[in-house]
Amino acid sequence: AAGPPLDRRSRALTDLRISVIDRCNFRCPYCMPEADYPRDHQFLSKAQRLRFEEIERLARIFVSLGVRKLRLTGGEPLLRRELPELVRLLARIPQVDDLAMTTNGSLLPASVEALREAGLQRITLSVDTLDAETYRTLSGGRGEVAELHAAIEAATRAGFSRLKLNSVVMRGVNNEEVPDMVAHFRGSGHILRFIEYMDVGTCNAWREDKVVPSAELRERIARRWPMHALPANYGGEVAQRWALNDGSAEIGFISSVSEPFCGDCTRARLSADGRLYTCLFANSGHDLLGPLRAGASDAELAGLISAVWNGRDDRYSEIRGMANADSRRRVEMYEIGG
Ligand code: GTP
Ligand code: 5AD
Ligand code: SF4
Ligand code: SF4
Repeated sequence: AAGPPLDRRSRALTDLRISVIDRCNFRCPYCMPEADYPRDHQFLSKAQRLRFEEIERLARIFVSLGVRKLRLTGGEPLLRRELPELVRLLARIPQVDDLAMTTNGSLLPASVEALREAGLQRITLSVDTLDAETYRTLSGGRGEVAELHAAIEAATRAGFSRLKLNSVVMRGVNNEEVPDMVAHFRGSGHILRFIEYMDVGTCNAWREDKVVPSAELRERIARRWPMHALPANYGGEVAQRWALNDGSAEIGFISSVSEPFCGDCTRARLSADGRLYTCLFANSGHDLLGPLRAGASDAELAGLISAVWNGRDDRYSEIRGMANADSRRRVEMYEIGG
């Protein structure tokens, strides 16, 4: 085979993030603030969403083109009924090296064993804070930190022993808590990752002064626990990996604002309504569901996907703030799952 399609900056298509639903049971202020998310937003109806067989078919086509990593996202992916069935369909696709899911965890205990049994390999959980009041704030009043602990516990018991725990850090909200979170998760085997607050979507009232640059966090953590950098696990890895010198934890830093990583971005995104987005900050996607339901063959769909990827020139995080970084209309985080 010719190898994966390349875009206009020679970046290969090797990862696919699949959003299974655009709804969420949380209202995180950095993603879907209760008061400010677009009130005219029409959540997708069942008929508008890709069915599991359609997701599987598209995933197989992406894999035939060279994709090796699949990640399920939402909104909140566990709001999609029978999700383990989809995992089962995806897990049996040959050549998939990695099958993961990003979730807020609130619904995890009920299905984590079924997900594991169906072949899910990894889970990434949102853990923005361990403080009860801040957790309420950062879930938009929808979640309790006790449920988060229950989710971690259930996932660990089901065999997901090395979770990635994502914390979106916002100045004035959970910034001060970062060392406490490191202290809490050291020795657990889980990987804590601090994410710079990003200007995704149109409704989160992003301000640069609320971003805490990773360099600042690294310095603060290293004062208490000296650290060293680790090599990337794979080319184009989003997180920079660090380890505490005492061996008690790996910490990741995702620095899309202060140290953009567009240069080797190999990620495509498929929305729940079957649109292909070539960037987290894209204005719009390319419809795959229409052609699929109109009877397009696998080869035709593969040709369409390749053509979209070949034309890709996105590098939003590198040109943020410049005149050509159009921020008027943008896909919302909960439509595309990060
Ligand atoms: P791994 O496969 O475990 O490395 O997963 P990941 O870090 O790619 O996935 P996750 O869903 O945990 O995303 C972590 C954070 O990185 C989220 O805030 C995402 O929005 C962000 N992120 C992931 N991919 C991209 C990307 O291509 N561009 C930007 N700007 N942010 C990204
Ligand atoms: N900036 C950075 N990360 C975000 N996420 C959601 N919104 C933002 C934002 N504005 C994170 C979630 C989850 C991942 C998929 O994206 O917390 O960990
Ligand atoms: Fe929060 Fe994720 Fe839901 Fe967005 S999709 S509101 S980040 S839990
Ligand atoms: Fe990739 Fe767009 Fe993120 Fe840059 S901003 S890393 S191009 S998804």
